[in-house]
Amino acid sequence: MLRPVRRRFATAALAFVATVGLACAVVGAVVGAGASSATAATLDQCAVQDARLEWGFKESFRAYVSGSIANGQWQVADGASYETPSFTFGGGSGAVASGAAAELAFAGSARFTGHGGILDTTVSTPRVVLADATTGMLVLDVVGTTQDGVEVAAQGVEFAALDPTSATRTLEDGVLTLQGIDAALTEDGAEAFGTYPAGEPLDPITIVAPLDAACAAEVEADLAAIDGPPWVGIALSAGGILLAVAGLTTAGILLSRRRRGRTA
Ligand code: HEM
Repeated sequence: MLRPVRRRFATAALAFVATVGLACAVVGAVVGAGASSATAATLDQCAVQDARLEWGFKESFRAYVSGSIANGQWQVADGASYETPSFTFGGGSGAVASGAAAELAFAGSARFTGHGGILDTTVSTPRVVLADATTGMLVLDVVGTTQDGVEVAAQGVEFAALDPTSATRTLEDGVLTLQGIDAALTEDGAEAFGTYPAGEPLDPITIVAPLDAACAAEVEADLAAIDGPPWVGIALSAGGILLAVAGLTTAGILLSRRRRGRTA
């Protein structure tokens, strides 16, 4: 049992801990909010040239086309190339902006043929639109015949929903790389392609974008603001809240014991 003086001291100490905890929580929230607003302010818009998009389209489709069922192949043109397991669409230009946003258009086409010409589908001119660090869209032109024999000639199809959170993001020697962005067929993509249902996973995409020195510095600061400080804020807030709750609870228990001791 604590003696009254010690108990009073312990109560005061715990109240102090609780206050520090609350202060941490508030500072954490402020740091977190500050980081978000820093994100919005660091980078306006940065032009990008010579970027490339690497994408296998869909591994099982490539296996089907080149296998004994379709007996087919694919051809690349207009700035695209192929090296197992990926197509590369070059000549990418556009811009990156703050908050990991980007809009890039690439050149080239991949034409899949098979079944003696019955299967003949070309996807071309991929565009990647990243709204922020968590959402994006792959847009394509699609020309061909679906499995059901429907002719398709569609420009600007919002073909695949992108999940940039799945990617590894690096910025080395001025080259920004987003490796392994998960892609899933959209409703529009399913309609244009004609076989897979919406939501079907496609191969992940990789974007490689060389930046000029000034842009690289801005992007680096922007990404640091996205990746770094918010976690400091969240950690401070969480630690502060825990500290505050623990301090207040224990102080409350000690106070109520003290009151009980007085009335007894
Ligand atoms: C003579 C006409 C066709 C025949 C006999 C045929 C036959 C087949 C067969 C047997 C499969 C199953 C393959 C497997 O499970 O391993 C398949 C899958 C598929 N077919 Fe066809 N097909 C034809 C035309 C087309 C056309 C015109 C398209 C248009 C794009 C197409 C797209 C596909 C796709 C996307 C798959 C799924 C591949 C995968 O990811 O496993 N097919 N087809």
